[in-house]
Amino acid sequence: MRIVVGVGGGIAAYKACALVRRFTETGHQVRVIPTESALQFVGKATFEALSGQPVSTSVFTDVPEVPHVRIGQEADLVVIAPATADLMARAAQGRADDLLTATLLTARCPVLFAPAMHTEMWEHPATVANVATLRAHGATVMEPASGRLTGTDTGPGRLPEPEEIFGLASLLLERPDALPRDLEGRRVIITAGGTREPLDPVRFLGNRSSGKQGYALARVAAQRGASVTLIAGNTVELAPPAAVDLVHITTAEQLATAVDKHAVGADAVIMAAAVADFRPTNVAAAKIKKGANEPDVIPLTKNPDILAGLVTARTEGRLGDTAIVGFAAETGDENGDVLTHARAKLARKGCDLLVVNAVGEGKAFEVDTNDGWLLGADGTESALDHGSKALLASRVLDALIPLLH
Ligand code: C5P
Repeated sequence: MRIVVGVGGGIAAYKACALVRRFTETGHQVRVIPTESALQFVGKATFEALSGQPVSTSVFTDVPEVPHVRIGQEADLVVIAPATADLMARAAQGRADDLLTATLLTARCPVLFAPAMHTEMWEHPATVANVATLRAHGATVMEPASGRLTGTDTGPGRLPEPEEIFGLASLLLERPDALPRDLEGRRVIITAGGTREPLDPVRFLGNRSSGKQGYALARVAAQRGASVTLIAGNTVELAPPAAVDLVHITTAEQLATAVDKHAVGADAVIMAAAVADFRPTNVAAAKIKKGANEPDVIPLTKNPDILAGLVTARTEGRLGDTAIVGFAAETGDENGDVLTHARAKLARKGCDLLVVNAVGEGKAFEVDTNDGWLLGADGTESALDHGSKALLASRVLDALIPLLH
């Protein structure tokens, strides 16, 4: 695909290099268009070497090729990273005073802005209005990350990590309408990853969940405008999604406590975590050793079913009108195929939606792609086509919207 990476004049311009690299490595043709001030931060030669394409900032370079019109017309996606306050102001007004803004006017493909600026500039009414205008014009403006800004300041305004920008850009290539702002004002709780149940100070019972599907849900929900709390088990190797409150847990009991605390009054809870059904009844204080006292059996105690507990809490009026989504990783067996088991699980758990993944060799766990079915408590069933976990997340959120009160 043909990707235009527009680079604004902010210190985060150096991160655009990693983004360009990610696109070229995955086989895309990249054209980098910096603003004049972006070149104060990163040299033209760097962008030319990384993209293998000429770089210019002006509509007066290479005039017979009409680049100010052609580059935008031919693009499959335009990504602006970092999008500074000034660049978004010019884009919102429809100005065309350099090659990048001219390209934005001629592009008819998805456009993704990844803002980076100080918190004061991000929160200024002028920037807020410009972001709203760009969104009304059909562009996707990402929520920035919170955290350390240039100098000692912290707050919203940090450029989301290149990997996250790459993920959302790839999602827009798969599905241009994947990121509408339809979850604004909604509070969504998402669980992700696998729980670990300790046996002794060094060992645990765990599972193969990577947390990638739950993280993709959190990322997509936040970028659709939701206020997201992500409760995650054992996902340290995953980068925290931008604009999401992240709560780390280890065991199923800790997950249950965290869900209890955050779910009350939430608009939706999505239980993507792989929760251990059982935990060792006794946790040895010291490492279990071979020898005279080695155990023959490990007694197990049943963990609470958090999903079923949420449904009960809602029925008893302790939750609110919260929509509840469960996940089921299923394999077929002699008693029925994947969907037969999944339908029974939906009925047993009592949630509103069940996302069903067929698991087996190389499917669902740890990988970056997924597929399956979506079963509704109202009897609706639909297939979730194979694609990125972000794509599956966007389809699940589409199905959630009509269930929100
Ligand atoms: O019964 P099973 O573990 O297959 O159900 C999967 C669904 O139930 C997932 O949404 C998972 O997060 C949730 N679950 C739970 N508490 C458990 C076990 C599973 O909430 N103890």
